[in-house]
Amino acid sequence: MDSIITYVRSEHSRYIDELTQYLAVPSISADDDTDGNIQRCAQMTADFLTAAGMHNAKVNKTARHPVVTAEWLGAPGAPTIIIYGHYDVQPVDPLELWDRPPFEAYVKNDRIIARGSSDDKGQLFIHIKAVEAVLKKTGKLPINVKFLLEGEEEIGSPSLPAFLREHKKELTGDIIVISDTDMHGPGIPAITYGLKGLAYMELEVIGPDHDLHSGEYGGAVANPVEILARMIATVKDEHGRIQIPGFYDKVIPISPLEKASIAKVPFDEPAYLKRLDVEELWGEAPYTPRERTWARPTFEVNGMWGGFIGKGAKTVLPSKAGAKISMRLVANQEPAEIEDMAEKYFTSIAPKSVKVKVIRHHGGRPVMVPLDNPFLQTASRALTDAFGHEPYYKRTGGSIPIVADFKTILGLDSLLIGFSLSDARAHSPNENFYLPSFFTGIEASIRLMYYLAK
Ligand code: BES
Ligand code: MN
Ligand code: MN
Repeated sequence: MDSIITYVRSEHSRYIDELTQYLAVPSISADDDTDGNIQRCAQMTADFLTAAGMHNAKVNKTARHPVVTAEWLGAPGAPTIIIYGHYDVQPVDPLELWDRPPFEAYVKNDRIIARGSSDDKGQLFIHIKAVEAVLKKTGKLPINVKFLLEGEEEIGSPSLPAFLREHKKELTGDIIVISDTDMHGPGIPAITYGLKGLAYMELEVIGPDHDLHSGEYGGAVANPVEILARMIATVKDEHGRIQIPGFYDKVIPISPLEKASIAKVPFDEPAYLKRLDVEELWGEAPYTPRERTWARPTFEVNGMWGGFIGKGAKTVLPSKAGAKISMRLVANQEPAEIEDMAEKYFTSIAPKSVKVKVIRHHGGRPVMVPLDNPFLQTASRALTDAFGHEPYYKRTGGSIPIVADFKTILGLDSLLIGFSLSDARAHSPNENFYLPSFFTGIEASIRLMYYLAK
């Protein structure tokens, strides 16, 4: 293995060049792909897999964006891992806040900066380069490896569950390996054992059938922007508790054991405040910030619209207002049930002076990986030897919708070993990937394959 690691270290600049090409394709899944960028990115992913020595690399059609698969099955009797990742990325707006164009990757302060660098092209690339190095140096892999790389994660993976059902026979294995989460910090790896679920909805409050003169009608007619603000303001009490009836019914409380384990993961609150440029944190009492982001469900307004927001002043009583709302869920909350409760809540508190319309978007179920899964132990050794530091066990507030389906459809648990940092600016301008994590991640992935073979 030492010679493979030496080889990897000699290839760093090629890896950056190739990743730069990969990041140049604007694979924004929210687009309908009339420009063919998603398709091109899928094909490029398959080509990288073939170049790495994987067999049968394929771009599989789905109802929307393609799924890329490949395999190497020359280790009979050894375990089989399925490496999952997503080659699609989030939209880039607001464009003017990027220091350089989002798909022209460049390196600055040890970080490669571009949309998709951390989430998730850079991270899935780690595993492609790991199998490539092992195949190049030894002609074989120590275990069986399948890749399953999708182009719809950022829009909730609408086509993937059906794909899993249709290809259940080809998708047998022992564990799913995913790098699409965070490390603890620079040089300090982490294993994530809990993902949040997601319920996402849009709320529209509709008043008069057209905008009104705010002098002529103000005082006589309800203002939808104001009504919406009042409705949203009732969702949490002064302790940050969500007031939607039934919301917490299925939440598994944080056990004293887990509370202690969460408290063991260092959290530098002053540094966190400084990095975000806020004076104080806020959230559900009596939980700590880590408990709140990792293990408690949350309700967030993602954006609100309505009325006049142009330059200058226009006197108007708007006809409509809207809000986009996400609720992050923890085991065992069910997205559809939570959406029902939220819809019922908002329609019940709305005054008669307005109508309320609810639009539901993609969601996903929460996931808990059993901590006694033996693959976690092996991954922990691989990470420790690669990074020279033991991994922390953590949860995250982020969601990867398909992971719950891996369990229910394929019967497989997931090993979440992510290499991103919390300041990677995922989904935001100047998204970046810390290159030392990228390079050491490749070494960790190689070690994982070898350690799993024994
Ligand atoms: N990689 C993220 C999930 C993630 C974020 C894990 C932060 C750990 C830390 C993933 O690509 C993502 O952004 N998921 C979406 C869900 C999707 C349905 C839009 C999310 O969490 O908002
Ligand atoms: Mn991701
Ligand atoms: Mn994402």
